[in-house]
Amino acid sequence: MDKKTEDKQEKTGKLYVIGVGPGASDLITVRAARILSELDVIYAPTGKKGAKSLAHSIIEEYLLPETNVFTYHFLMKADIAAKNAVWDEVAHSLKEEVLNGRKVGFITLGDPMLFSTWVSLLQRLVLNQMVIPPWLEIVPGITSFSAIAAASTMPLSMENQTLAVISCTASEAVLEQTLLNHDCLVLMKVYSHFPLICNLLQRHNLLKHALMMADATLPSEQCWRNLATQPFSEEDLGHKLSYFSTILINKNWQLSR
Ligand SMILES: C[S@@+](CC[C@H](N)C(=O)[O-])C[C@H]1O[C@@H](n2cnc3c(N)ncnc32)[C@H](O)[C@@H]1O
Repeated sequence: MDKKTEDKQEKTGKLYVIGVGPGASDLITVRAARILSELDVIYAPTGKKGAKSLAHSIIEEYLLPETNVFTYHFLMKADIAAKNAVWDEVAHSLKEEVLNGRKVGFITLGDPMLFSTWVSLLQRLVLNQMVIPPWLEIVPGITSFSAIAAASTMPLSMENQTLAVISCTASEAVLEQTLLNHDCLVLMKVYSHFPLICNLLQRHNLLKHALMMADATLPSEQCWRNLATQPFSEEDLGHKLSYFSTILINKNWQLSR
């Protein structure tokens, strides 16, 4: 190997995409904790400009004091062009860091491969590459719905039962068909779609098999077991629900009140 290639190889850093779990700091993997304690820099997402990143607060205790933290604002409601501009910039910056030999962490809530903004970056970073780049490692995390199933003792699928995971941003027709087709369901991104979901569950007599949890494993966690028995106020109907709210349904499981 000539000196130039050797220098380049030595210089290449690594990008670790780390799932930080649903919220509690001790619900991250041992591998994630080890990698977090070795990073030069981490990229932490925040949904609101200037606000602290939830993902960062989950893993703060594992970082070295000298690890740089770069908080970027990912646009949830902007148009596609504005979102693309942010992703292009972050992807470019991540690649630069890696080429400069740094150990970079990109943290994301839950698991990085499930409904994660990380996938917008993945498409940019490995676009047209037939092989996984050696400088990239994805560290899985505990998804929100596994944590909710555990905390609420609601099993998700046994034997031949089917499980669907769907975002409530899907159309009413798709949501209804999915509700009818599966034994168990995870409904993510409930927030403003809550009234529609309640109507669908009522129409198909499924409220009694559904539970909702908001801010699972965080100090603000709330659980509504058996949605048939919950007196929801107008406030709850969408507007005041935490963005981190998920509904689990198991048609073969009886829920207590
Ligand atoms: C962009 S997705 C991120 C999913 C994440 N990658 C995962 O593995 O859970 C955001 C949705 O995940 C769910 N979610 C994430 N964290 C949650 C939590 N702590 N409690 C309840 N739901 C949560 C909510 O449905 C929220 O709208």
